[in-house]
Amino acid sequence: MNKSIVLLPGDGIGPEVVESAKCILDAVAQACHHTFTYDTKDIGGLAIDNHQDPLPEETEAACKAADAVLLGAVGGPAWDNNPAHLRPEKGLLRIRKSLGLYANLRPVQGFPELLHASPLKFDVVNGSDLLIVRELTGGLYFGEPSERRDDGQSVVDTLAYTREEMERIIETGFEAAMVRKKHLTSVDKANVLESSKMWREIVMEKAKDFPEVTVDHVLVDAAAMKLITDPTQFDVMVTENMFGDILSDEASVLTGSLGMLPSASLRKDGFGLYEPAHGSAPDIAGQGIANPLATILSAAMMLRYSFDMDHEATLIEQAVAKTIAAGYHTADLDVKNGTKMGTKEITDKVIDFIAEETPTESIMRCYA
Ligand code: IPM
Ligand code: MG
Repeated sequence: MNKSIVLLPGDGIGPEVVESAKCILDAVAQACHHTFTYDTKDIGGLAIDNHQDPLPEETEAACKAADAVLLGAVGGPAWDNNPAHLRPEKGLLRIRKSLGLYANLRPVQGFPELLHASPLKFDVVNGSDLLIVRELTGGLYFGEPSERRDDGQSVVDTLAYTREEMERIIETGFEAAMVRKKHLTSVDKANVLESSKMWREIVMEKAKDFPEVTVDHVLVDAAAMKLITDPTQFDVMVTENMFGDILSDEASVLTGSLGMLPSASLRKDGFGLYEPAHGSAPDIAGQGIANPLATILSAAMMLRYSFDMDHEATLIEQAVAKTIAAGYHTADLDVKNGTKMGTKEITDKVIDFIAEETPTESIMRCYA
């Protein structure tokens, strides 16, 4: 298959980890006879510096024309004091909205070799494997009005959703549960918020279409607590934008390996933007030590969700698991008796494991 991919490296370690994921995509293309073409565009702080706009029109147009988008990270201290419309994060929010990427999938799966680094006791975290399905283009993030009033003496943000916006993300939650352990936890604040009451009604309606899925309704405060006291009870959690933002950060540290977590932001037609769950880590940018594995796993999600290349996605995921199991790791990961390496070296290790599984005799290493 021929696929066109827009790369948005962004800021901090973004360029290093995206370059590494591109190498992996090229290795898979070679092994499985696909052609991937790339177009690299500016976003975030880099785009502010180059175009005075965190999401230049040219970037937006290229993304709209592509088959999928792979993003590194945005943000850094250089832009922290900018006005709201000139902050790197604004580029991210605008691209989600502009491309209609309403369904954010954030899987949290532990690697056995890394679980000892979890802040939770081993017995509590062992076996956790959950997927947060977060609504991404509505709610408090985008509701109007959102402004200061009365000369700064009062302020308003708006939590607004249409029924349709709730229905489509709740459906995504059910569909995700169907291909996993068929257990959906719907997270809301129905004891207080009108929006959550409607959310809960819709979840109960949709449950009738998915009789095989067991549904729990959990209030967001209790969900935050249960995530750290008993994370293994969760399979798929579905929730609105702001709750999902908070819970996904909480969940991301459970398994002791934030540097390993991918994410996907999707639309109904399968188009998506893929990015690692971690940030731009400006403190280690440019040193060649960033962990590229979350971005590599995000590229795997791209193959699975946007290109229907399940075999290829699994090839990458298994190669990453084998890399860790063999003791290879980057500086952010604590692996007992492991071999610490840089971004480039670990990328080529992943390619070694991909090559082992494929009949092609000579897959190009990226950096060797
Ligand atoms: C995330 C981030 C963003 C969000 C920020 C950077 C705007 O925290 O992707 O979770 O709040 O959605
Ligand atoms: Mg967040």
